[in-house]
Amino acid sequence: MSDSHSQRYQFFDQHPEILNFRADILQGLSSPEPYISPKYFYDEAGSRLFEEICNCDEYYPTRTEVSIIRDNIDDIVEILGKDCLLIEPGSGDSYKVRLLLDALRPVAYLPIDISKRYLQDEAKKLAAEFTWLNVHAICADFTGKLELPYHVETTNKVAFFPGSTIGNFVPEQAVKVLEEIKVMVGEAGGVLIGVDLQKDAEILNAAYDDKSGYTAAFNKNLLVRINRELGADFKPDQFRHHAFYNQAEHRIEMHLVSTQDQQVEIDGQVFQFDRDRSILTEYSHKYSVALFQQLADQAGFKVVKTWVDKDRLFSVHYLSS
Ligand code: AVJ
Repeated sequence: MSDSHSQRYQFFDQHPEILNFRADILQGLSSPEPYISPKYFYDEAGSRLFEEICNCDEYYPTRTEVSIIRDNIDDIVEILGKDCLLIEPGSGDSYKVRLLLDALRPVAYLPIDISKRYLQDEAKKLAAEFTWLNVHAICADFTGKLELPYHVETTNKVAFFPGSTIGNFVPEQAVKVLEEIKVMVGEAGGVLIGVDLQKDAEILNAAYDDKSGYTAAFNKNLLVRINRELGADFKPDQFRHHAFYNQAEHRIEMHLVSTQDQQVEIDGQVFQFDRDRSILTEYSHKYSVALFQQLADQAGFKVVKTWVDKDRLFSVHYLSS
């Protein structure tokens, strides 16, 4: 790594704890309706599988959001303002931010991700690729308190929250997440956020059960991860991936369904899964433009602008504090 590169890349570890993982899994699986938080999808294997999902024909959100950003880049840059501090909670492979960087020229880019090695690799790659960019990577769980590693007074702070990650939260929690972002970006700040839209159930169901099986593997990888990190004895083949659009709640639900009566031991505790018993692993809420704008309003944000694609599959919004 060159000198200029190592000065431009900084890493801040806020230690999202393994202890939380153990406690969260045990608590979720002991619940009357067993669940695992979707934030645990993203170990290294899960992060790679998610990249594969994004390239699937059936999974329209990524390519649609990318085209919305590309088609409106001038407008977006003008509204965000140059020289901002650009913060991305749940940055993953930092793929979409590459669409903004050259035009936006932020003073620094702060990717926040729970997956440490993956975050470090991707952030270093980005710093090497954009030879002028300051990259200050933060390993943290953005569903906790969002705290920047240093104090910034003068620069305007913009959060970039693409991919409809906000859809993982039930609306009430989603308002809280937006409120946290609002505190983080402060008075002069804002958030550029991607939100998936309501549409025909067939399109949605296909997007969350691709023919190549990446989504199924992504879902089952949770069990592989629990086995590896918590010494459990899940047999991933004895669970099936089940994803469906729940019309009444406007959300995709992903589950892992037990295909037989079985027991699993985790950390000395035995869990019984009868046949057809399901573990909820993810919600992905879908909004109309109006409903999302209401949500933003509840969090105290002002909707400055909304962009959608011509088929109205996906939306991108700029909200200001
Ligand atoms: C990253 C939460 C936006 O809900 O579409 C993709 C995750 N899960 N396929 C989504 C996901 C299954 C994705 N988010």
